[in-house]
Amino acid sequence: MKIENPTPIQWQFSQRAQKLQSSVIREILKVTMRPEVTSFAGGLPSPATFPVERMQAAFDKVLSTHGKVALQYGPTDGYAPLREWVANSLSTDGAKIVPEQILMTSGSQQGLDLLGKVLIDEGSKVLVETPSYLGALQAFSVYGPQFGSVPTDDHGVVPEAVADVGQGARLLYALPNFQNPTGRSLSIERRAKLVETCARMGLPLIEDDPYGALSYSGEPMPKMLNMNPNGVIYMGSFSKILTPGIRLGYVVAPQPLARKLEQAKQATDLHTAQLTQMVVHEVVKDGFLNEHIPTIRKLYSDQCQAMLHALAEHFPKAATWTRPEGGMFIWVTLPKHIDTSKLIDEAIAQNIAFVPGAPFYANEPEHNTLRLSFVTVPPEKIRAGIAVLGKLIASKL
Ligand SMILES: Cc1ncc(COP(=O)(O)O)c(C=O)c1O
Repeated sequence: MKIENPTPIQWQFSQRAQKLQSSVIREILKVTMRPEVTSFAGGLPSPATFPVERMQAAFDKVLSTHGKVALQYGPTDGYAPLREWVANSLSTDGAKIVPEQILMTSGSQQGLDLLGKVLIDEGSKVLVETPSYLGALQAFSVYGPQFGSVPTDDHGVVPEAVADVGQGARLLYALPNFQNPTGRSLSIERRAKLVETCARMGLPLIEDDPYGALSYSGEPMPKMLNMNPNGVIYMGSFSKILTPGIRLGYVVAPQPLARKLEQAKQATDLHTAQLTQMVVHEVVKDGFLNEHIPTIRKLYSDQCQAMLHALAEHFPKAATWTRPEGGMFIWVTLPKHIDTSKLIDEAIAQNIAFVPGAPFYANEPEHNTLRLSFVTVPPEKIRAGIAVLGKLIASKL
């Protein structure tokens, strides 16, 4: 039976839903799907790094040997052998991380949402870096926080500033390694200082670390987690070291937060797919990442160098930019009068895309900034694209 002439529904969205917005990046990415556009806009890893055959072999093996388990519902906190693997790989610098602290999530983006759900009330003060990862601002915003912006410089977030802006805050969200969007890293001295400051203030510190393994020199920086496992919430992801399509990340949290997050996840999606967790465990358990990650570092390092050279050659002297030692992004600052959210339309008309910087700021945006990603563009196209962009910027001086 089909209902004739139903009353049209006037959708009444919840107040929470009214806070939801589409990410500016996703909107730009739609435009950059056109093949003639050279896109420095994406935050996507290079598909050239995806170990397709290895994944396929692991899927075959898991399905043929443990198919009935892999296709069944699983525990909310995750596939036990994978949690154990994560715990062991994080137990460095004398620290001992145990599987009970780990919650596997559907990408670390889900971890951000779950943290928002269990830690943020309407009006709660939440500290973020200036600028910060747009996806975290988006995830936390749904829960109605008041963002407090912590200043940063070339060495990352300034720990001394936390005490000034952080009184009464619920958490501090920090990106210590090759930050999205700036590519900057927090110096070792500042890591210790930041952990100490937060510990003194009783302030939970979120250490979001999807890029830490992508250091071009291969030297990992010490994790803040291991400096204070009872006060630091660590987030990891397989997106940038394996593939993002499997949607697999994890949160390492002190008790009782870990159990609260587990309850929140249960209400959200019961658990992350068993099949993909078992496949990832099959891929990583015998050390595959030790040979795979260096190939990603090499590719990204070469392309980063190509972009840095092109910037030096083609960008006007009035522009400045970061010089990342890992990760996927370069952050450019133009003279104050150039608004990059206007510049982007002209750039796209010339088939070049980047991400304007303003959306990465929780409070007062610096409109003269932009983010460039070099990982999906080959060096010759990087050179050509940066030359076009440099000319466009020079025409605004
Ligand atoms: C800083 C940061 N955190 C978290 C994420 C989310 O990653 P995923 O959900 O793919 O694990 C990203 C993705 O780009 C990111 O840059």
